[in-house]
Amino acid sequence: MDGQLKFSPKQLSIKKLLRPMAVTGLLFLATEPAKTDTAVEGFELSVRHCSRCHVIGDFNRLGGIGNSPSFTWMVKSDDWRERFMTFYMRRPHPVFARVPGYPLWSDSDPYYPPFEVTLEEIEAITEYAGTLQVTQ
Ligand code: HEC
Repeated sequence: MDGQLKFSPKQLSIKKLLRPMAVTGLLFLATEPAKTDTAVEGFELSVRHCSRCHVIGDFNRLGGIGNSPSFTWMVKSDDWRERFMTFYMRRPHPVFARVPGYPLWSDSDPYYPPFEVTLEEIEAITEYAGTLQVTQ
């Protein structure tokens, strides 16, 4: 019984030592870009639909195909958000990306397996792409 309830100076010093580390850890977490559920969904969609051609971040840093700009590169432009939201109208995507309710613009044979993506899913992809922005 005795001794157990006594305040141990040794414990105290360890706590004092750990406190600033814990604070630093919290600050680190706070400055990490928060990934929302939508962004996570967008990441999964990007892996499924875009990563064959585009490097979409750490997931496939050495992947993609040569003439496709990486997501990380594209989000540096001022109008990146608009470009992402309308990617299906922009070459080469009309050949293979289909948005329900939106007419396929190209009649040429798709050289890439066509996929369907909804406007909502495109928003999620755009939100994910936003998390790749490097803030200085
Ligand atoms: C079959 C390959 C392929 C797939 C799959 C693909 N892209 Fe692309 N994408 C390209 C190429 C090639 C370019 C460059 C076009 C150019 O520079 O003219 C491009 C360019 C873009 C651009 C810039 C367009 C512009 O005009 O500024 C955006 C945004 C984009 N892609 C988004 C996406 C998204 C989002 C997906 C997945 C949902 C996707 N891409 C899937 C090949 C692909």
